[in-house]
Amino acid sequence: MMITKIYSPAETKKAAEEIKLGELIAFPTETVYGLGADATNEQAVKRVYLAKGRPSDNPLIVTVSSPEMAAEYIADYGQYGEKLIKAFWPGPLTLVFKIKPGSLSPVVTGGLSTAAFRMPENETTRKMIAQAGVPIVGPSANSSGKPSPTTAQHVFHDMEGKIAGILDDGPTAVGVESTIVDLSTSEPAILRPGGIISEQIEKTIGLSVDSDQHKVGANETPKAPGMKYKHYAPAAQVLIVRPNDWKQALAWAGSQSENIGIMAPSQILKGSLPANVLPYDMGNDLASATHRLFDGLRYFDNEQKVNWILACSFEEKGLGAAYMNRLKKSSGGTYFEPQD
Ligand code: TXA
Ligand code: MG
Repeated sequence: MMITKIYSPAETKKAAEEIKLGELIAFPTETVYGLGADATNEQAVKRVYLAKGRPSDNPLIVTVSSPEMAAEYIADYGQYGEKLIKAFWPGPLTLVFKIKPGSLSPVVTGGLSTAAFRMPENETTRKMIAQAGVPIVGPSANSSGKPSPTTAQHVFHDMEGKIAGILDDGPTAVGVESTIVDLSTSEPAILRPGGIISEQIEKTIGLSVDSDQHKVGANETPKAPGMKYKHYAPAAQVLIVRPNDWKQALAWAGSQSENIGIMAPSQILKGSLPANVLPYDMGNDLASATHRLFDGLRYFDNEQKVNWILACSFEEKGLGAAYMNRLKKSSGGTYFEPQD
């Protein structure tokens, strides 16, 4: 088995050397940790799919250290591309553009004539990419289907022995993946809600943007191919709890003969809890709940094994759209329904 090294932020050069040799290095971003490999090296990219157990028709994000690096591949910025890059890069916004034919391997693009580009905020990662001198592919560094990693420890849990190293820069800030906007068609569309909210995008381009991520039927091809796969799913069944239903949810939990995990706001955890309830504190607001969501799901997978997790919901607007998108996927959209 390969030894997975941990690199400190001072060791970007060593990590960049590994990338240049075709090895896989996990890297921090402001959203979640990514799994990096030289995007111009087909063999290295193929090993990313293997390490994740990811279906090969699900294309990868091309992660760059500067807009100039992305420009090598982009054929057409459309009407809004330059504006959005100027406003939000570096940052949690991934943009899908038409690419110059043949400029990226079909292993990266899944054979599409477009590719998704992202310039992350994390300076350590941008330094590593610049030192490698090539863009790196950057899917989330989890095993396919599991919650995305928000710490180097999460990555280590999923990838130990499968990758050469992890560039560890502490926990990520946002906690859910970047917003994906498709600029390859006539109308820009949000393919995945994330750290940059739709209102920010609309304000920048002066146009209301379609969020069509919910409209994909079972037999259609979703615009972001990854959206069709099972995602973020812990071993336990997650039940979403509406803010007013916690009293009944806790009573239900208390009546069970097994331990029940709860991912609840600090406020709820201050009250008295049934003895078989295992708490995970989601903090006091939406931003902290978003930051902690994947860590909480992993906690109940790996440290406190339970069959049921009750998790708090938020209104689906702004960052709440990104939070609820991930929570619904991890639960299959199942809510705790109080019986009265
Ligand atoms: O925040 C993030 O975006 C993280 C960090 C590590 O940068 N990365 C990430 O990558 O979430 P991944 O591979 O887990 O999700 C990328 C999504 C997938 O759903 C994929 O199908 C979609 O982007 N995608 C990639 N290329 C695309 C394209 N050309 N057109 C539409 N969707 C695309
Ligand atoms: Mg992912």
